[in-house]
Amino acid sequence: MEFVGFSLRNNLFVAPMAGVTDRPFRQLCKKMGAGLAVSEMVTSNSLLYGSAKTQRRANHDGEVAPISVQIAGSVPEMMAQAARHNVDRGAQIIDINMGCPAKKICNVMAGSALLRDEPLVGRILAAVVAAVPDTPVTLKIRTGWDKSNRNALSILKIAEQSGIRALAMHGRTRACGYSGDAEYETIAAVKAQARIPIIANGDITSPEKARAVLDATGADALMIGRAAQGRPWLFREIEHFLATGTHLLPPRVAEIHQILLAHLEDLYDFYGIETGVRVARKHISWYTKGLTGSAAFRHGMNLLPDVATQQQAVNDFFCTLAEHSEHLSYAQTENNNEGLAA
Ligand SMILES: Cc1cc2nc3c(=O)[nH]c(=O)nc-3n(C[C@H](O)[C@H](O)[C@H](O)COP(=O)(O)O)c2cc1C
Repeated sequence: MEFVGFSLRNNLFVAPMAGVTDRPFRQLCKKMGAGLAVSEMVTSNSLLYGSAKTQRRANHDGEVAPISVQIAGSVPEMMAQAARHNVDRGAQIIDINMGCPAKKICNVMAGSALLRDEPLVGRILAAVVAAVPDTPVTLKIRTGWDKSNRNALSILKIAEQSGIRALAMHGRTRACGYSGDAEYETIAAVKAQARIPIIANGDITSPEKARAVLDATGADALMIGRAAQGRPWLFREIEHFLATGTHLLPPRVAEIHQILLAHLEDLYDFYGIETGVRVARKHISWYTKGLTGSAAFRHGMNLLPDVATQQQAVNDFFCTLAEHSEHLSYAQTENNNEGLAA
């Protein structure tokens, strides 16, 4: 699809997830079928630009274009500065976070808390767009602050007037957290009025659900978060289903084994060994969740202290799995609600 001036492989986007969508994971998702992957949010607080975490989040070496970087904050001038800072470091799209319900973010009036203050939304959007005139700026929101304040339509108008080029919407209010099911009516209502591309987000977990959300909302693109954790090949499965109406076979155990090993190498490289081993644990858990024998495996794996034992455990698990079946087979349908931001 054509998206804010870039030609993308498809309209399936990886949702920004702090602590998950680091550079290794974004690269992997793009390799496995995602059209775009938005970075973890980067603070607009310039005092933190030098911190290891913020620098790592702004590292895009070798990343497949276009590079979309999400910024968060509530002070227009600081957001403008953050946009410029990230464009100078390789961002090709700036995404503004007004969708995150995390307490840490909301208490300082950023993320979805901003949705309550429409004039401030307008000032932030205008400041960021003006700060990076050659870079498309996109916005991510929830449907509103709470169920009686679903102001996504007014935010759309403000966004369009401010020069925002696309709007991603998570079909829940801030007050809803992650409870209940995402609703797509508000997204459909916004899409019906929109002159900019609308990206639908929330609870897309399968090829069928992707089709249903596209049909229900008329959205231009889909954004997938939790369901891609430990399952980056979901993008190619959805891509295939949307194109053909048929399912790919589940991936071969041997293929996923190799993908996970390569992912681990990337994590060790990116974070350094000590942090890499720690970050790798959660990814290994996600990859193996629902597979035969995985509960006992995860329990032991989480205690392993170094690269060699971690890799060996992964090898043993996947070799045993391969002896029993050629293709991945999950014990139950995943209810991937673990690892929420808040
Ligand atoms: C671990 C985690 C971290 C997240 N971090 C961010 C973030 O940094 N910025 C943001 O806009 N949304 C963030 N979100 C929200 C997701 O982008 C997405 O809107 C939400 O998970 C709903 O999509 P899903 O049902 O496909 O997971 C995060 C979600 C999770 C689970």
